[in-house]
Amino acid sequence: MPECFPTALRSLPINMRKILVKGGTPLNGTVGISGSKNAALPILASTILLGGETTISNIPLLHDVITMIRVLRALGMRVEYSEPGRVHVWVGGKIRHVAPYELVTKMRASFFVIGPILAKEGLAKVPLPGGCAIGSRPVNFYIKGLEAMGAVIRMEHGFVITEAKKLKGSSIYLDFPSVGATESLMMASTLAEGTTVIENAAQEPEIKDLARFLNKCGADIKGAGEEKITVKGVLQLKAQDYRIIPDRIEAGTFMVAAAITKGSVTVKDIIPEDVAVIAAKLAETGAEVETKESSVRVSAKTLPKAVNIKTLPYPGFPTDMQPQFSALLSVADGASVITETIFENRFMHVNELNRMGADIQTEGHSMIIKGVPKLSGAPVRASDLRAGAALVLAGLSAEGQTLIDDTDRHIVRGYERFLQKLNGLGADVKEVK
Ligand code: EPU
Repeated sequence: MPECFPTALRSLPINMRKILVKGGTPLNGTVGISGSKNAALPILASTILLGGETTISNIPLLHDVITMIRVLRALGMRVEYSEPGRVHVWVGGKIRHVAPYELVTKMRASFFVIGPILAKEGLAKVPLPGGCAIGSRPVNFYIKGLEAMGAVIRMEHGFVITEAKKLKGSSIYLDFPSVGATESLMMASTLAEGTTVIENAAQEPEIKDLARFLNKCGADIKGAGEEKITVKGVLQLKAQDYRIIPDRIEAGTFMVAAAITKGSVTVKDIIPEDVAVIAAKLAETGAEVETKESSVRVSAKTLPKAVNIKTLPYPGFPTDMQPQFSALLSVADGASVITETIFENRFMHVNELNRMGADIQTEGHSMIIKGVPKLSGAPVRASDLRAGAALVLAGLSAEGQTLIDDTDRHIVRGYERFLQKLNGLGADVKEVK
């Protein structure tokens, strides 16, 4: 089958190796937020369960999204990307039950497919995704949940092989509210026999979005967005068109960009409730935050005040905003403490910020940030997506030039047209090959 998104792929800066940021300009203006990456990925994975034809819109054009489309195609599904931000999926009939090693190991989120493939085909063979720069990220909750639903699971040659002629509704308690495990188990249980109850479920807006989509297709999911999700299995799901929610982490990143550059930016096309905790923390740093129906304006005139942050599952402060706030608090007036409770290794950006003149020390799961008046541009390296974004923000506020080595293209994996959007607000950032 020919590649499905030649134009889309051509428009991605796939040769990007480094990002050059010239700091010192306050960002001003309005920026539109794209569809949510972390809602698009599970929703695309869930199309495995459907019959019929669907168009999903507001899908951000990102490497991770393309990887998920490739996974679906490798399973034998017909999936096409068309601009702007639409993915068409034709479903029905049998699919392959093996997810390819080179795609799943490239992007952890592709492990989500284990639940829907098993529910659809009675058999799924998905490679272990392995760890990544932010932590070891095991998949034990997925396995425990599927086992509770009657699946027989074994590991073989680096693959998780799971079998169940028909999954059975069950009671599942997650030891931690894992986003991916909640999503994968929620998908699997839509076609199970009987009722599944997932307790201590993740409550992120992306979980609600997935449930809304599946319910539109005929699923019976109640309680998504709360601690306890109840799914009554149905016989079949019929594909429906859907529009993905806006990306709250992209929005939060631009909100911090306004504050760190002492600018004034209106971030539009958002769901204010989804960024409320980010807005509250920014207000605590002294930034002016004005929320309207579908936008938020962040302005700052002075250095931020030091604040303490603890990352927590939603509705707590998101771990995906921790690196960006580390950059902001590096130039705060006073000392801040950030405690990371979701991932054990999400401090890789600290040494890079210190290279730019920040004064941050790590102590176990916490970092102590003593604010400095100014950062200075330096060559640095992005270790993961949000760390890369944090370095761009640090570079925007720094004196001189920051050259960010992004050889693994972390930043373009998660932010649609990031550099163009920043430049539209007056930044001076460009890719350097
Ligand atoms: N965990 C386990 N066992 C499991 C699953 C998770 O121990 O079976 C642990 C993880 O190792 C981690 C914690 O639970 O320490 C939370 O992991 P979770 O499963 O919630 O994360 P995820 O589903 O792999 C999603 C987002 C991440 C975001 C986290 C937390 C997607 C595609 N990814 O990952 O987004 O950080 O939830 O909110 O939705 C990003 O966008 O940059 C990103 C990393």
